[in-house]
Amino acid sequence: MVIGVLGLGPIGESVCEMLGSKSGIRVKYVCCPERPVRFPATVTRELRDLTEDPEVDTVLELSAEIHPALEQVQQCLLAGKHVVTCNKPLLAFHWNELMALAARQGVCLRYGGAAAGGLAWIPAIERCKRADTIHEISGIMNGTTNYILDAMHLAHASFQTALNRSQDFGYAEIDTASDVDGLDSLHRLILSANTAFDVSIPPEEVLVRGIRCIQRRDVETFLAHGFCCRLIASAEHYAERLAAVVEPTLVELKDHEAAVHSNFNLLTMVSRQAGKQSFFGQGAGRYPTAYNVVQDLLDVAAGRAEPPGPPRIETHVDNRTFVRKYYIRTAVSEPWLWSRTEERWETGVITCRLSAQEVHAWAAEARGRDPELFFAALR
Ligand code: HSE
Repeated sequence: MVIGVLGLGPIGESVCEMLGSKSGIRVKYVCCPERPVRFPATVTRELRDLTEDPEVDTVLELSAEIHPALEQVQQCLLAGKHVVTCNKPLLAFHWNELMALAARQGVCLRYGGAAAGGLAWIPAIERCKRADTIHEISGIMNGTTNYILDAMHLAHASFQTALNRSQDFGYAEIDTASDVDGLDSLHRLILSANTAFDVSIPPEEVLVRGIRCIQRRDVETFLAHGFCCRLIASAEHYAERLAAVVEPTLVELKDHEAAVHSNFNLLTMVSRQAGKQSFFGQGAGRYPTAYNVVQDLLDVAAGRAEPPGPPRIETHVDNRTFVRKYYIRTAVSEPWLWSRTEERWETGVITCRLSAQEVHAWAAEARGRDPELFFAALR
């Protein structure tokens, strides 16, 4: 196998380092490296050097932005090259068009490093659905937010202190909003659910609420009632109904998610015959992500990966039947909340069972009156 690398950053460098000891895979070109290239390869600024070279069969795309990656990946697929990427937003927002193009061209488009670095998550979903029907995908899909929540629960840190520390450790994205406001979890959820359910989820239809407004006093209340808070991304597909939500969620202290500490991830699928399977590990980071990229390359090189199937059905999300009780802490006092309150905790109320659709819609509007408002589902 001969590969070209687009944009050599820390992950690309780690991939090339790991490939050094693997026989049969040679890096021929590096296009627009962000750092010095320390191995024998032609450095170029021209994508067509890769696409027009018949010796190159596979291109690695390892950036984190949609543009120019979209146009570059399209050109590579059109040139008949396999593509391995770990670009989450690219696939989350352009799933169907890129999968359809790869299918038409008869080439592979692999993304194991995008959904969960260091875990055999996407391959496990693919194997599961060969023999079974997957109904649920859920989990802790972002390390930064888990680090923050865990530090608030165990080390009594404030949100800001924990966020600063997660940046010092290099867990957080440069734009921390991507982690804190749930967008990174959204992208991973879409990649996982699209693979599991053979659908193409419109990202703008998923309800997303992050952890920006959680406070120490919320965490103390949760602990007093036997809960801890985790940012959980969930998708359910039963019959024709598809629900997809990213939201802070209170899990009981005996639950597996409560035992996920620091920046670790826990990804779970539920299928009809096999039941529940969970995958625990890093989920991101330079070497764990490079590990998945290398696994994808080895699969393509060995002919173990296949081009995508026919274009997925674009399925609309309906969160009206995704029903939970909710913890809500707000300074606003209003009839909507009174009529739905079942219980009072020290810092907020617990509602009756409500749809995610109803709660997210109310909170989006109520936040105009109380910007500090925080809510979390009870699982
Ligand atoms: N910031 C991400 C996380 C890792 O914390 O999981 C990069 O995707």
